[in-house]
Amino acid sequence: MKKIFFVALALVMLVCVSSASADVVIAFSQIGQESDWRTANTDDLRHAIENHPGWKLVYDDGQQKQENQIKALRNFITQDVDYILFTGVVSTGWDEVLKEVNEAEIPLLLIDRIPDCADKIDYVAAFGGDFVEEGRRQVAWAGEYLKSIGKGDTDVNIVIMEGTTGASAQTGRTEGNLKALKEYPHLKLVGQQSGNFTRAEGQAVMESWLKSIDKIDVLIAQNDDMALGAIDAIKAAGKVPGKDIIIVGCDSVKAAFDSIVAGEMNCTVECTPLYGKFVVPTIEALIRGEKFDKTVVHPEEGVFDMNGGIDLGTVKSIKAADVIATRQY
Ligand code: AHR
Repeated sequence: MKKIFFVALALVMLVCVSSASADVVIAFSQIGQESDWRTANTDDLRHAIENHPGWKLVYDDGQQKQENQIKALRNFITQDVDYILFTGVVSTGWDEVLKEVNEAEIPLLLIDRIPDCADKIDYVAAFGGDFVEEGRRQVAWAGEYLKSIGKGDTDVNIVIMEGTTGASAQTGRTEGNLKALKEYPHLKLVGQQSGNFTRAEGQAVMESWLKSIDKIDVLIAQNDDMALGAIDAIKAAGKVPGKDIIIVGCDSVKAAFDSIVAGEMNCTVECTPLYGKFVVPTIEALIRGEKFDKTVVHPEEGVFDMNGGIDLGTVKSIKAADVIATRQY
């Protein structure tokens, strides 16, 4: 009897030990924490993975440095993790390390920013914003809004505050911004500079523009953090944000909604950071042996402003105050 008990106990312990070591290890190389968007993105993925039974997250914050991210990816390979989630701070320079990931046969999921070498490497799934369309929406919103207030034929000075130079979110949004400007010849581009996707740099760039450019009517900021920094600079210069200068942000973070409701920001084009709901079912399906096409999935995104109803062709703006209570980030 005693013998049977000990054999059973040993079996139970064996099962426990093997199931403990059977955790699925998902490693995530994140850019850093430059914006509210990025914080929401990290929190969402962290929450989704860490709350999944049997899954473990290995997280690395690259602190905006490509070399840190390359080191992290090589560490993930050494640790022989089961899946790698990757968002690159810039688009180029990943070919070699991502080929190493492929050689190690670790399934790679691309999140948010898709690297330039995506065509040359293997990845099992990719989820990211349609940055060109987001950039187009920003300028189209300004053009259509001006028309709606009877200023469609008035010459207007516009500045574009860009994100981190070389990031696909910057190159894509700039492409969309500039393409859309051609549709609105009365919008005259008088400034274009990087604010590095941060609030502090957004404030600094706006401060210098306000000193060097005679008249700024519209600010297109490629993320909300820079728009909010610019708003601080505009107020400090004695101007009224949202009135003297029309402000269009991007991301649709909570602080941007608050700013729109307060009448300071005019519009924010959505770029969702919530990828957990895509990543979890994808990894579950990969574990079951399913495969996915090599296509980049773009989540559905909206445009939010003071009054709603601005028609941008692919989407109509929604009044921010009407949906603020339902926002998740
Ligand atoms: O790649 C997405 C962009 O990166 C977001 O717009 C920005 O806020 C972030 O830092």
